Amino acid sequence: MKHNYRDAYIWRAQNLDLYWIIIDSTDKHYFTDIDWKQYLDFLSSASSLPLWYNNDRLLNAYISQAKKAVHTCTVYTFTEIVWEYAKKLSEISNIENAKIMFWAFGSDAIDWALKCAQTFTWKKKVIAFKSAYHWWTYLSLSSNWFDALKQGLDLPDLFYHLSYPTEENYEEVLEKIEEILKTGEVWALLMETILWDWWVFEPSSEFLSKVKELLHKNWAILIFDEIQTWMWRTWKFWAFENYWVTPDLFVAAKWLGWGYASLSAVIWRADIIDSLNNCQNAFTFSAHAASCAVWLETINIIEDEKLAENALKIWEKITSIIYKELENYDIFKEVRWKWLMIWIALDSEDSIWAYIWKICLDKWVYVWYYGHNNNVVRIQPHLNISEEEAIKWISKVIEAIKEFSENKEKYMVWEFKSFFSS
Ligand SMILES: Cc1ncc(COP(=O)(O)O)c(C=O)c1O
Repeated sequence: MKHNYRDAYIWRAQNLDLYWIIIDSTDKHYFTDIDWKQYLDFLSSASSLPLWYNNDRLLNAYISQAKKAVHTCTVYTFTEIVWEYAKKLSEISNIENAKIMFWAFGSDAIDWALKCAQTFTWKKKVIAFKSAYHWWTYLSLSSNWFDALKQGLDLPDLFYHLSYPTEENYEEVLEKIEEILKTGEVWALLMETILWDWWVFEPSSEFLSKVKELLHKNWAILIFDEIQTWMWRTWKFWAFENYWVTPDLFVAAKWLGWGYASLSAVIWRADIIDSLNNCQNAFTFSAHAASCAVWLETINIIEDEKLAENALKIWEKITSIIYKELENYDIFKEVRWKWLMIWIALDSEDSIWAYIWKICLDKWVYVWYYGHNNNVVRIQPHLNISEEEAIKWISKVIEAIKEFSENKEKYMVWEFKSFFSS
């Protein structure tokens, strides 16, 4: 009966309509559903939780700040913790005098990064990339490449969508950008630092430094969406540090609120951020005080427990097991990674990951498939997963791949949706 609750009361537009799992409780890396099935979360709750679910230090940080001052509306007055949080974020950005603007979600922070850039430059168009997901508010939604997400909406036609600039194609992409910039219309280039929902495409660092120069010559701004890639998941604190380029603005979200309340931020160039006037961007729940306390404590935990180092160790284990176990299977194409962002791609024109995903769920592993033909699965454990657990659960995913590979006819009668292929 309870399984019908969602359809009865929750809008379908807010759900992928895929997992029919209703969660009752969470413990460490696991959640338990209302039927008492316990799943290992290999998605880190879609990148919103860097550490396991119920961490006492974080709960205590939340509770003690909530007892002191749970929140004051930042439009009028800040609580002290908000100041400490902005200071830490600015310091940890490794950029001198970086300034912060607060929001609640990744999508609205993307909107406001774009709005700052527009007020700074007074121009009309933005360059974004194919396969980009910047999500759901007005400008971020228009910046997405996938038409299915924009269906029925009359959104502004502001975006040029080019191929994502990898080592292989970046010179061609640069040439196109140079052409577009000649129109004098472009106010910003917006990109995910690593294209990650669709497939792991890393940017060429040569591209990044050249494009920044090109944009600046043409009075335009470089903006990185770091929403899923920051906080040591890619070994560096910010993914862009891997490529030796600093954007003009970058956006953080997800892990910032650590699941307690939503927090997001746009960070860096004060001159661009200050192009917005007093109270031109002010929200009731921006910089929610108790959540700021949680984020500050998350940083302490990650540093105290050396979890970035743990991520390195786990990455090595996981990827070597995948190679060793799967290299002789026809359907295995490759595994790619940026430390603890790991993708396993299958070699098929059919969307076969969907079947394997279902087998994984039957083995109590919670993963999700993406990418070209929906043939990529993302493995994204919490940063504090132990070696033993990582090995145990990646072995289940491997078992699922093998099981499917050896019994394709049995499984390929299931019907699945494919998502966001365009
Ligand atoms: C790369 C990227 N940008 C933006 C967003 C939007 O974040 P939010 O869902 O908090 O609005 C997401 C969400 O998954 C994302 O993955």
